[in-house]
Amino acid sequence: MGVNIDWNNLGFDYIKTNANLRCRFDGKRWSQISVTEDEYIRMHIATMGIHYGIMAFEGLKAFRGKDGKVRLFRPADNARRFQSSAYKLCLEPMPTDVFVEACIQLVKLNIDFVPPYESGASLYLRPLMYGSQVAIGVHRCPEVDIVFFASPVGPYFKGGMQLIKVVIDRMQDRAAPRGTGDIKAGGNYASSLLSGEKAHDMGYDNVMYLDAAQHRFVEECGAANFFGIKNNTYVTPASPSILPSVTNDSLRTLAADMGLNVEQRPVTVEELKTFEEAGACGTAAVISPIGSIYDIDTQEYIDYGKTIGPVSLALYNRLRDIQYGRAEDKHNWCVIVE
Ligand code: PLP
Ligand code: COI
Repeated sequence: MGVNIDWNNLGFDYIKTNANLRCRFDGKRWSQISVTEDEYIRMHIATMGIHYGIMAFEGLKAFRGKDGKVRLFRPADNARRFQSSAYKLCLEPMPTDVFVEACIQLVKLNIDFVPPYESGASLYLRPLMYGSQVAIGVHRCPEVDIVFFASPVGPYFKGGMQLIKVVIDRMQDRAAPRGTGDIKAGGNYASSLLSGEKAHDMGYDNVMYLDAAQHRFVEECGAANFFGIKNNTYVTPASPSILPSVTNDSLRTLAADMGLNVEQRPVTVEELKTFEEAGACGTAAVISPIGSIYDIDTQEYIDYGKTIGPVSLALYNRLRDIQYGRAEDKHNWCVIVE
């Protein structure tokens, strides 16, 4: 490989790669996808996307497998979620095949940046769309600009798969019941940043967000979904303001394959103490097992123990085995890039 990167010590940071892709909808049709080395977006001062938050993004990964092949994990699912984000933001949705082809092209152009198998790292792909019409009024934005860039990444939480400390803090709501919590709009991250930073300052890894209407139900765990394990059952919250996670969907399938029951239903804060294991899951987080949860308002403390639970570990290994080509991909999740 021709690039000089310390693959074994990658964090979750931006690293410049060979190329990124650009595509544009001008109100009538999509442009061809163009390739550039330029890391900057030049935009007009009155670009709607930046004024009114009419933007959304995606996150997916490519893995160099044990067999040397490079696999993209479930890109069509990210394409569909990108479309539902576009729909809710009144933007033109990018067709699935164009999105998937762009991801494949991006990985091929940056193939030297897909970390070696032994490192356990991956290439993170970040598709990003924003309303690019120049206007001052608040209305539908018929022009869309899309960027696809990539960066090699290691674990999202420093130290890899380790137990994380989570805090329940009601100072901020991530998303309203009929808001944008179920799409990957940048505004969701902006509206929960302050409590996330406060949690970090207090020594926690992540904030658990509750439903905004009653603060009774568990929603998300930072930028990841929540799951709990009890009585041979994988339980994950259902709510209209949770982002439908591709990782969580995969884990539900793998849990069922392993003979676990799977429940997707409202989960109250009180129920948290009944779980034998708990975790956060997402593309960046993979599975981050939760060691403890502290509720700042009730001062209740839940301790899930000092070791990673057996079911979380088994799920993690099954998912990683598929992504790194060590196990049969029987659900056809991986797209082989080369
Ligand atoms: N929830 C939120 C708020 C996220 O930002 C993410 C990350 O993408 C997830 C859940 C996990 O989704 P996925 O598994 O599709 O990456
Ligand atoms: C992902 O897991 O892909 C995410 O989008 C998390 C990100 C906000 C860091």
